[in-house]
Amino acid sequence: MKFSPRRIKVLVELTSKCNLRCGMCPLPVLRRPYEDMEFDLVEKAEREIHGLGLKLKWLHEMGEPLLYSRIDDAIRLFPEASISTNGLVLTEEVGAKLLASPLKRLRISVDSINPKVYPQLRTGGDFDKLVDMTMKFLEQAKGHPIRIEIQKMRSRMTVDETVEDFRKLFHLKQYRNARVIERTCEAFDVNDETDLHGKFYGCVQGAFFNWIVIFADGRVTHCCYDAHGDQVIGDLKTQSLTEIIEGSKLVQMQALFDKRDFSELPRCAECFKHGGESAAWTGVLSGVQALPEAAKDVVRKVLDVRYR
Ligand SMILES: C[S@@+](CC[C@H](N)C(=O)[O-])C[C@H]1O[C@@H](n2cnc3c(N)ncnc32)[C@H](O)[C@@H]1O
Ligand code: SF4
Repeated sequence: MKFSPRRIKVLVELTSKCNLRCGMCPLPVLRRPYEDMEFDLVEKAEREIHGLGLKLKWLHEMGEPLLYSRIDDAIRLFPEASISTNGLVLTEEVGAKLLASPLKRLRISVDSINPKVYPQLRTGGDFDKLVDMTMKFLEQAKGHPIRIEIQKMRSRMTVDETVEDFRKLFHLKQYRNARVIERTCEAFDVNDETDLHGKFYGCVQGAFFNWIVIFADGRVTHCCYDAHGDQVIGDLKTQSLTEIIEGSKLVQMQALFDKRDFSELPRCAECFKHGGESAAWTGVLSGVQALPEAAKDVVRKVLDVRYR
Protein backbone atom coordinates (compact mmCIF):
# COMPACT_ATOMS: atom_id res chain seq x y z
CA MET A 1 0.00 0.00 0.00
CA LYS A 2 1.27 3.49 -0.87
CA PHE A 3 1.92 5.61 2.20
CA SER A 4 3.34 8.98 3.05
CA PRO A 5 6.01 8.73 5.80
CA ARG A 6 4.95 12.17 7.08
CA ARG A 7 1.39 11.05 7.76
CA ILE A 8 2.17 7.73 9.47
CA LYS A 9 2.71 7.71 13.24
CA VAL A 10 4.73 4.85 14.72
CA LEU A 11 4.63 3.26 18.18
CA VAL A 12 6.87 0.58 19.66
CA GLU A 13 5.49 -1.16 22.74
CA LEU A 14 8.59 -2.00 24.79
CA THR A 15 6.44 -3.80 27.31
CA SER A 16 2.79 -4.66 27.77
CA LYS A 17 3.39 -5.15 31.51
CA CYS A 18 2.07 -2.52 33.87
CA ASN A 19 2.08 -1.75 37.58
CA LEU A 20 -1.43 -0.18 37.37
CA ARG A 21 -4.86 -1.23 36.12
CA CYS A 22 -6.40 2.11 35.16
CA GLY A 23 -10.17 2.46 34.83
CA MET A 24 -10.14 4.07 31.37
CA CYS A 25 -7.41 1.87 29.87
CA PRO A 26 -7.78 -1.46 28.01
CA LEU A 27 -4.69 -2.84 29.78
CA PRO A 28 -6.52 -4.52 32.71
CA VAL A 29 -8.50 -6.65 30.27
CA LEU A 30 -5.81 -6.97 27.60
CA ARG A 31 -6.39 -9.98 25.35
CA ARG A 32 -2.64 -10.35 24.78
CA PRO A 33 0.08 -11.60 27.15
CA TYR A 34 1.80 -9.13 29.47
CA GLU A 35 5.40 -9.33 28.24
CA ASP A 36 8.58 -7.40 27.37
CA MET A 37 9.84 -6.94 23.83
CA GLU A 38 13.09 -8.84 23.27
CA PHE A 39 15.89 -6.34 22.76
CA ASP A 40 16.87 -7.93 19.40
CA LEU A 41 13.41 -7.03 18.19
CA VAL A 42 13.75 -3.43 19.43
CA GLU A 43 16.95 -3.26 17.35
CA LYS A 44 15.18 -4.71 14.31
CA ALA A 45 12.31 -2.23 14.77
CA GLU A 46 14.85 0.62 14.77
CA ARG A 47 16.45 -0.56 11.51
CA GLU A 48 13.07 -1.02 9.84
CA ILE A 49 11.44 2.20 11.05
CA HIS A 50 14.39 4.47 10.29
CA GLY A 51 15.16 2.53 7.09
CA LEU A 52 11.74 3.57 5.77
CA GLY A 53 12.35 7.20 6.71
CA LEU A 54 9.82 7.02 9.55
CA LYS A 55 10.16 8.52 13.01
CA LEU A 56 9.05 6.87 16.23
CA LYS A 57 6.48 8.87 18.20
CA TRP A 58 6.15 6.93 21.48
CA LEU A 59 7.85 4.01 23.21
CA HIS A 60 4.54 2.51 24.30
CA GLU A 61 1.17 1.28 23.16
CA MET A 62 -0.15 -0.39 26.29
CA GLY A 63 2.08 -0.95 29.35
CA GLU A 64 4.46 1.09 31.47
CA PRO A 65 7.66 1.81 29.51
CA LEU A 66 9.71 2.69 32.59
CA LEU A 67 9.39 -0.94 33.73
CA TYR A 68 11.53 -1.93 30.72
CA SER A 69 14.99 -2.69 32.10
CA ARG A 70 16.85 -1.44 29.00
CA ILE A 71 14.76 1.72 28.65
CA ASP A 72 17.86 3.91 28.22
CA ASP A 73 19.26 1.68 25.45
CA ALA A 74 15.88 1.83 23.70
CA ILE A 75 15.87 5.65 23.94
CA ARG A 76 19.34 5.73 22.39
CA LEU A 77 18.00 3.77 19.41
CA PHE A 78 15.03 6.16 19.08
CA PRO A 79 16.21 9.59 20.32
CA GLU A 80 13.24 11.23 18.55
CA ALA A 81 10.64 9.27 20.55
CA SER A 82 8.80 10.42 23.66
CA ILE A 83 7.85 8.50 26.78
CA SER A 84 4.61 8.56 28.71
CA THR A 85 4.69 7.14 32.22
CA ASN A 86 2.28 6.71 35.09
CA GLY A 87 5.09 8.22 37.20
CA LEU A 88 5.04 5.59 39.92
CA VAL A 89 8.32 3.92 38.93
CA LEU A 90 10.10 7.21 38.29
CA THR A 91 12.62 6.75 41.09
CA GLU A 92 15.76 8.86 41.39
CA GLU A 93 17.71 6.02 39.74
CA VAL A 94 15.31 5.77 36.76
CA GLY A 95 15.25 9.58 36.54
CA ALA A 96 19.07 9.65 36.36
CA LYS A 97 18.99 7.07 33.52
CA LEU A 98 16.49 9.19 31.59
CA LEU A 99 18.38 12.42 32.12
CA ALA A 100 21.63 10.81 30.94
CA SER A 101 19.88 9.63 27.75
CA PRO A 102 18.91 11.70 24.68
CA LEU A 103 15.21 11.67 25.72
CA LYS A 104 13.62 15.00 24.78
CA ARG A 105 10.10 14.65 26.20
CA LEU A 106 8.69 12.82 29.21
CA ARG A 107 4.95 12.87 29.90
CA ILE A 108 3.77 12.03 33.40
CA SER A 109 0.15 10.87 33.34
CA VAL A 110 -1.19 12.34 36.57
CA ASP A 111 -4.66 12.82 35.06
CA SER A 112 -6.47 14.00 38.21
CA ILE A 113 -5.27 15.90 41.28
CA ASN A 114 -8.44 15.15 43.19
CA PRO A 115 -7.30 12.42 45.64
CA LYS A 116 -10.80 10.88 45.47
CA VAL A 117 -10.96 10.80 41.65
CA TYR A 118 -7.31 9.83 41.02
CA PRO A 119 -7.65 6.20 42.22
CA GLN A 120 -10.77 5.72 40.10
CA LEU A 121 -8.88 6.72 36.96
CA ARG A 122 -5.51 5.28 37.96
CA THR A 123 -6.53 2.09 39.72
CA GLY A 124 -3.73 0.81 41.93
CA GLY A 125 -1.99 4.18 42.01
CA ASP A 126 -1.00 5.97 45.20
CA PHE A 127 -1.73 9.69 44.79
CA ASP A 128 0.57 10.98 47.56
CA LYS A 129 3.43 8.82 46.30
CA LEU A 130 2.91 10.11 42.75
CA VAL A 131 2.96 13.75 43.86
CA ASP A 132 6.09 13.14 45.90
CA MET A 133 7.93 11.29 43.10
CA THR A 134 6.89 13.86 40.49
CA MET A 135 8.09 16.76 42.66
CA LYS A 136 11.41 14.99 43.23
CA PHE A 137 11.85 14.35 39.50
CA LEU A 138 11.02 17.98 38.66
CA GLU A 139 13.76 19.04 41.05
CA GLN A 140 16.19 16.42 39.68
CA ALA A 141 15.52 17.64 36.12
CA LYS A 142 15.63 21.37 36.96
CA GLY A 143 17.59 23.22 34.27
CA HIS A 144 17.85 20.10 32.06
CA PRO A 145 16.71 20.50 28.42
CA ILE A 146 14.19 17.61 28.71
CA ARG A 147 10.54 18.73 28.27
CA ILE A 148 8.33 17.49 31.07
CA GLU A 149 4.60 17.32 30.50
CA ILE A 150 2.22 16.81 33.40
CA GLN A 151 -0.89 15.27 31.88
CA LYS A 152 -4.37 16.33 32.96
CA MET A 153 -7.22 14.10 31.74
CA ARG A 154 -10.42 15.78 30.57
CA SER A 155 -13.46 13.70 31.44
CA ARG A 156 -16.78 14.09 33.18
CA MET A 157 -15.11 13.19 36.50
CA THR A 158 -12.47 15.92 36.22
CA VAL A 159 -14.47 18.90 34.91
CA ASP A 160 -13.83 20.89 38.08
CA GLU A 161 -10.04 20.62 37.84
CA THR A 162 -8.11 23.35 36.05
CA VAL A 163 -4.68 23.61 34.47
CA GLU A 164 -3.89 26.28 37.06
CA ASP A 165 -4.70 23.81 39.89
CA PHE A 166 -2.13 21.41 38.43
CA ARG A 167 0.44 24.19 37.99
CA LYS A 168 0.04 25.21 41.62
CA LEU A 169 0.21 21.70 43.04
CA PHE A 170 3.49 20.96 41.25
CA HIS A 171 4.95 24.51 41.71
CA LEU A 172 5.48 24.68 37.97
CA LYS A 173 6.43 28.37 38.14
CA GLN A 174 9.80 27.15 39.41
CA TYR A 175 10.39 24.68 36.57
CA ARG A 176 10.76 26.23 33.14
CA ASN A 177 11.06 22.83 31.43
CA ALA A 178 7.66 21.61 32.70
CA ARG A 179 4.08 22.36 31.67
CA VAL A 180 0.60 20.93 31.99
CA ILE A 181 -0.98 19.32 28.91
CA GLU A 182 -4.58 18.17 28.58
CA ARG A 183 -5.88 14.99 27.03
CA THR A 184 -9.45 13.90 26.46
CA CYS A 185 -10.58 10.52 27.73
CA GLU A 186 -11.45 8.42 24.68
CA ALA A 187 -13.24 5.14 24.00
CA PHE A 188 -10.04 3.07 23.79
CA ASP A 189 -11.83 -0.08 24.80
CA VAL A 190 -15.58 0.02 24.31
CA ASN A 191 -17.38 2.71 22.39
CA ASP A 192 -20.16 3.30 24.91
CA GLU A 193 -20.84 6.29 27.07
CA THR A 194 -19.21 5.90 30.49
CA ASP A 195 -18.41 8.26 33.39
CA LEU A 196 -15.08 8.79 31.69
CA HIS A 197 -15.86 9.26 28.01
CA GLY A 198 -18.65 9.85 25.52
CA LYS A 199 -19.44 7.58 22.59
CA PHE A 200 -17.99 8.09 19.14
CA TYR A 201 -19.56 8.00 15.73
CA GLY A 202 -17.16 6.39 13.31
CA CYS A 203 -13.41 6.33 12.74
CA VAL A 204 -11.76 8.76 15.16
CA GLN A 205 -8.52 8.53 13.21
CA GLY A 206 -10.19 9.82 10.05
CA ALA A 207 -8.40 7.19 7.97
CA PHE A 208 -7.88 3.42 8.14
CA PHE A 209 -4.08 3.45 7.94
CA ASN A 210 -2.51 6.24 10.00
CA TRP A 211 -0.48 4.22 12.47
CA ILE A 212 2.10 1.46 12.65
CA VAL A 213 1.91 -0.02 16.15
CA ILE A 214 4.45 -2.73 16.98
CA PHE A 215 3.34 -4.80 19.97
CA ALA A 216 5.81 -6.27 22.48
CA ASP A 217 5.44 -9.67 20.77
CA GLY A 218 6.32 -8.20 17.35
CA ARG A 219 2.85 -8.24 15.82
CA VAL A 220 1.86 -5.07 14.02
CA THR A 221 -1.51 -3.31 13.86
CA HIS A 222 -2.61 -0.35 11.75
CA CYS A 223 -4.46 1.60 14.48
CA CYS A 224 -3.49 2.82 17.95
CA TYR A 225 -7.03 2.02 19.15
CA ASP A 226 -6.45 -1.68 18.42
CA ALA A 227 -5.00 -2.39 21.89
CA HIS A 228 -5.92 -6.08 21.84
CA GLY A 229 -4.51 -6.79 18.38
CA ASP A 230 -7.83 -7.60 16.71
CA GLN A 231 -6.65 -6.19 13.38
CA VAL A 232 -3.07 -7.32 12.99
CA ILE A 233 -1.47 -6.63 9.59
CA GLY A 234 1.76 -8.59 10.08
CA ASP A 235 4.55 -9.77 12.36
CA LEU A 236 7.88 -7.98 12.65
CA LYS A 237 9.49 -11.14 14.05
CA THR A 238 9.13 -12.86 10.67
CA GLN A 239 8.57 -10.01 8.19
CA SER A 240 10.10 -6.67 7.26
CA LEU A 241 8.01 -3.51 7.69
CA THR A 242 7.98 -3.10 3.90
CA GLU A 243 6.54 -6.60 3.50
CA ILE A 244 3.88 -5.77 6.07
CA ILE A 245 2.91 -2.41 4.56
CA GLU A 246 2.95 -3.71 1.01
CA GLY A 247 1.34 -7.04 1.91
CA SER A 248 -2.09 -8.17 0.73
CA LYS A 249 -3.53 -8.22 4.29
CA LEU A 250 -3.53 -4.44 4.67
CA VAL A 251 -4.94 -3.95 1.15
CA GLN A 252 -7.78 -6.41 1.85
CA MET A 253 -8.58 -4.81 5.20
CA GLN A 254 -8.58 -1.31 3.71
CA ALA A 255 -10.98 -2.50 0.95
CA LEU A 256 -13.39 -3.90 3.57
CA PHE A 257 -13.16 -0.67 5.55
CA ASP A 258 -13.89 1.44 2.47
CA LYS A 259 -17.08 -0.62 1.94
CA ARG A 260 -17.90 -0.25 5.67
CA ASP A 261 -17.92 -4.06 5.85
CA PHE A 262 -16.86 -4.74 9.45
CA SER A 263 -17.43 -8.51 9.41
CA GLU A 264 -13.66 -9.08 9.70
CA LEU A 265 -12.77 -5.76 11.35
CA PRO A 266 -13.98 -6.05 14.97
CA ARG A 267 -12.13 -2.99 16.22
CA CYS A 268 -13.54 -0.80 13.44
CA ALA A 269 -17.00 -2.27 14.16
CA GLU A 270 -16.64 -1.02 17.74
CA CYS A 271 -15.82 2.51 16.53
CA PHE A 272 -18.78 2.49 14.14
CA LYS A 273 -21.28 0.86 16.45
CA HIS A 274 -23.23 4.07 17.01
CA GLY A 275 -23.58 4.83 13.33
CA GLY A 276 -21.12 5.52 10.53
CA GLU A 277 -19.84 8.89 9.64
CA SER A 278 -20.34 10.69 6.36
CA ALA A 279 -17.46 11.19 3.93
CA ALA A 280 -17.51 14.89 4.87
CA TRP A 281 -17.07 14.03 8.59
CA THR A 282 -14.15 11.69 7.76
CA GLY A 283 -12.56 14.64 5.96
CA VAL A 284 -12.98 16.83 9.06
CA LEU A 285 -11.43 14.13 11.30
CA SER A 286 -8.48 13.62 8.96
CA GLY A 287 -7.97 17.38 9.02
CA VAL A 288 -8.02 17.44 12.83
CA GLN A 289 -5.52 14.53 13.01
CA ALA A 290 -3.14 16.49 10.79
CA LEU A 291 -3.25 19.61 13.00
CA PRO A 292 -0.33 20.49 15.28
CA GLU A 293 -0.88 19.54 18.95
CA ALA A 294 -1.72 23.10 20.07
CA ALA A 295 -4.48 23.40 17.48
CA LYS A 296 -5.78 19.92 18.37
CA ASP A 297 -6.06 21.10 21.98
CA VAL A 298 -8.44 23.86 20.90
CA VAL A 299 -10.64 21.35 19.03
CA ARG A 300 -10.64 19.06 22.09
CA LYS A 301 -11.82 21.88 24.32
CA VAL A 302 -14.71 22.62 21.98
CA LEU A 303 -15.71 18.93 21.85
CA ASP A 304 -15.44 18.59 25.62
CA VAL A 305 -18.28 21.03 26.18
CA ARG A 306 -20.38 17.83 26.21
CA TYR A 307 -19.03 16.96 29.65
CA ARG A 308 -20.52 20.06 31.23
C1 LIG B 1 -1.77 3.50 27.61
S1 LIG B 1 -0.76 4.59 28.52
C2 LIG B 1 0.84 3.84 28.41
C3 LIG B 1 1.93 4.66 29.07
C4 LIG B 1 1.90 4.73 30.58
N1 LIG B 1 1.55 3.53 31.20
C5 LIG B 1 1.02 5.88 31.06
O1 LIG B 1 0.06 5.63 31.76
O2 LIG B 1 1.33 7.03 30.73
C6 LIG B 1 -0.55 5.99 27.45
C7 LIG B 1 -1.50 7.12 27.71
O3 LIG B 1 -2.80 6.69 27.39
C8 LIG B 1 -3.68 7.36 28.25
N2 LIG B 1 -4.95 6.67 28.27
C9 LIG B 1 -5.29 5.47 28.77
N3 LIG B 1 -6.58 5.22 28.55
C10 LIG B 1 -7.09 6.29 27.90
C11 LIG B 1 -8.35 6.65 27.39
N4 LIG B 1 -9.40 5.85 27.53
N5 LIG B 1 -8.49 7.85 26.77
C12 LIG B 1 -7.44 8.69 26.63
N6 LIG B 1 -6.22 8.40 27.08
C13 LIG B 1 -6.04 7.23 27.71
C14 LIG B 1 -2.96 7.37 29.58
O4 LIG B 1 -3.45 8.40 30.44
C15 LIG B 1 -1.55 7.62 29.15
O5 LIG B 1 -1.29 9.00 29.16
S1 SF4 C 1 -2.95 3.99 31.41
FE1 SF4 C 1 -0.80 3.39 31.53
S2 SF4 C 1 -0.53 3.01 33.73
FE2 SF4 C 1 -2.70 2.93 33.38
S3 SF4 C 1 -3.16 0.74 33.05
FE3 SF4 C 1 -2.90 1.78 31.05
S4 SF4 C 1 -0.81 1.37 30.55
FE4 SF4 C 1 -0.99 1.05 32.76
